[in-house]
Amino acid sequence: MSQKKSKPKPAPAPAPARVESEPTIAAGSSSAWPFVLLGVVLFGCFLYVENTGGAFRADIYQTGMKTPPPVIGESIEVQLYKEGAKQYAACAGCHQPNGLGSPALNFPPLAGSEWVLREKPDRMIRIMLDAIEGPVSVKGTVYDNPAMVPFREVLNDFQVAAIATFVRGNAEWGNKAGVVLPEQVKAIREGTASRGGAKWRTESLDPVP
Ligand code: HEC
Repeated sequence: MSQKKSKPKPAPAPAPARVESEPTIAAGSSSAWPFVLLGVVLFGCFLYVENTGGAFRADIYQTGMKTPPPVIGESIEVQLYKEGAKQYAACAGCHQPNGLGSPALNFPPLAGSEWVLREKPDRMIRIMLDAIEGPVSVKGTVYDNPAMVPFREVLNDFQVAAIATFVRGNAEWGNKAGVVLPEQVKAIREGTASRGGAKWRTESLDPVP
């Protein structure tokens, strides 16, 4: 013990030169975890919005969604009419954007049509779901053209109601019939399902109010 004490102390090593380095978050350092977690949460939010959001495009609601989200302050009537104005593209190729049809091509008009403007939309909904063939009189002209296509498998209840609301209530076409609700379409869709999609004819629609 006494020997050790008497040993000369070694000269202190020179202080290492100070190395200025950028502050870093070392991998595995506990202080990085809040940031990693935040990143994961933000990425999750991004994926959620990316997968479920409409990206401000109304037309995507056709595919994934049964009905577009309600717009605060707009009545169901206005929402149906606006949606119908877009969805009417499904009919415009034949009945024309102005609803006048094309007598030359044997396409009857929807503007002023007695099939459209009935108090109840029951005939029009049936025609939209399963189409109509055979002679049909519209505004004093008889059309007989098998080209009308069924929309049962193409349009959902909201879309059929929307188009019917737009066509029936289109003031620019001189049409002034009431709103059609998705529930009415649903009831008729289910009530006529057993017909197996047979097209309607003037005679088979006669008993329908
Ligand atoms: C491919 C052409 C075509 C398309 C698309 C079409 N229709 Fe028709 N539509 C016809 C034809 C042709 C008739 C007449 C059928 C007949 O002669 O029996 C008709 C008849 C009708 C009638 C009864 C007669 C009248 O003029 O009022 C209604 C109502 C009707 N269509 C509504 C619609 C609606 C609503 C759509 C869109 C969802 C639509 N149609 C899409 C061709 C079409």
